[in-house]
This record gives sequence, structure tokens and C-alpha cells, in this order.
Amino acid sequence: MTVTLEEMLVKIKRGQWALADIDWDAPGANIRPDQFDGLKSFMADLVWIENIGARGFAALAKKTDDPVLAEIYRYFHAEEQRHANAELALMRRWGMLSDDEIPEPNVNVKLGIKWLDSCADSASLSVLGTIIPMLEVALDGALVKFLLDEVDDPVCHEVFRRINSDESRHLAVDFQVLDMLGAAPLRKLLVQAGGSLHPKVLIGIGMYIPLLNKMRDNIIGMGLPEEKLYAAMNRFAEIGGRSSGTKRLPMFHVFSTHAKWVVDRGHPYHLLADSMVKVTGFIPGPLQPKIPSWAKELTYEPVNAA
Ligand SMILES: [Fe+2]
Ligand SMILES: [Fe+2]
Repeated sequence: MTVTLEEMLVKIKRGQWALADIDWDAPGANIRPDQFDGLKSFMADLVWIENIGARGFAALAKKTDDPVLAEIYRYFHAEEQRHANAELALMRRWGMLSDDEIPEPNVNVKLGIKWLDSCADSASLSVLGTIIPMLEVALDGALVKFLLDEVDDPVCHEVFRRINSDESRHLAVDFQVLDMLGAAPLRKLLVQAGGSLHPKVLIGIGMYIPLLNKMRDNIIGMGLPEEKLYAAMNRFAEIGGRSSGTKRLPMFHVFSTHAKWVVDRGHPYHLLADSMVKVTGFIPGPLQPKIPSWAKELTYEPVNAA
């Protein structure tokens, strides 16, 4: 059953929540000492991946001519920021941050943020509209779910229940938009695909490849099976493959093929991706991209819903 964008907007407005709705001091902040370090770096990256999503939606809101879709994207932008802030609040609850400390993301996340910051606004709707759903199924929505198997804290479960219901709406819209993009005439789709070979897009792919393998390493570092990430990535081809419009999008096939390589641990692709993680790991701190100024919007404070 397809939901119209207008109906989706109503659902989104109804689903709004705020950090103030959660009792951050409730009992049960049980983090085992052996999981503290792995969880801390995983959460730090997660906070920033939410911000990558937020930045992507802000760019998408400017790309579409449809006023309802633009408003949906503005809500999604605010929701991703809320996810980041809720995750910061959880980190504070678990004693991982002091006062208003903002955690540092890993270098691959920093490079991804830098790319989005400098290129997202000039990327086409067809490029952004394909990249964002891939990021959402593989990272944004999926990583949060992995934590639920690891962490006992009832507040964490409460937060992620809310985040997951936001994410299910993000995915519904992401894939609906992919389907709409794929309904364009073939000639237009091919011209757009040609435009995707823009150097900025290729640089973006160069950021994305090590980012995924780095997050896989983080998942392993948390003691979780990497197959969880692969199952999440398979969902992109699975969900997109059900829609006739999406299947017409050349970018969808590029990302689906890439996802197949990622989930095949024996594929030579991993030699490239793993060495890219190593090489980027050597970039000295002062040469790494700076945390962007909009990071000042990050706060663990329980502000009210937008
Ligand atoms: Fe999110
Ligand atoms: Fe999302």
C-alpha cells in the first residue's frame, strides 16, 4: 500500500518527540566495563552519522520542487539532529562525556561530513536521492538496531524505539522518492547518470568506500558479527528491487552492485577498501577535516520537539 506524501507528512507530524519526553536519570544505566571503550567509539561515530543524514536531508529539501516533500525533508533534517542529540544524552548517561563535550568522529566519518558539506548542495536530486537511502539502510537506521542486542539499559531501548519509528518513515520516503525518480523518461535517466560521473561524486565514492569498511571494523570491535551490517546492506537491493521505477535508475544498480561486493568478504574489493581505511588512518590530526560549524547545534540538553 503506497502512502501519499501528504499522508506521510501527517504521520511525521504526529510522530514528533523530544529529548524532554525521556527520563534520562531513570535507573538501569548498566554498561559493562568490558564494553565501555568499544561502545564509546561506536556511539561517537553514530552521533556523527546522524549528522551526515541531517546534512543530506537539508540538501534534499533544497533540491525538490514539491513543497510537501521539501517539508518532509525539513522534518527529517530535524529528526536526524534529534537522534544525534539523544545519542549524546545516552553517552552522558553512561559517563562517556564530560559536561558539554562533543565526541570526535573517526577520520572516515570526518571525511564523509566534509564531502557532504562541500558537495551536497551542488549534487543532483538523483545522486543524493540514491546515496541517502543507501546510507540510511546500511548505517543510520541499521547501526542503532545493533546496539539493542548489546546494551541492557531500558532508557537506551526507549530512545531507540523512538528513533526506529522515525527511521521507518525515512526509509518509506527514501524508497518512494527513488521510485518517483525512476519514473522519468529513459533519456533523462541516462543524462543524469552521465552527470553522476562528476569528479565531486567520484570523490564522494572515495569517502564512502572506506567509511563502510571502517564501520564494519567498529561493529567487529563491539563484538558483533559483521553479517549484521551485510544483512542491512542487502535490504537496499531487496527493497529497491521491488519497485519498477527504482529498477530503471542506473545509480540504483551501481549502489546495488557495490553492496554485493561489500557483503562478499572474499571479493577483491575489500583489498582496496581496507587499504583505503589504513591510508586515511595515517592522516595526522591537524590535517584531518575540521568539525563543521553547524556542530554547535549538537546538544544533549532536553530541548522540545521542532
Ligand atoms: Fe537517524
Ligand atoms: Fe534516517
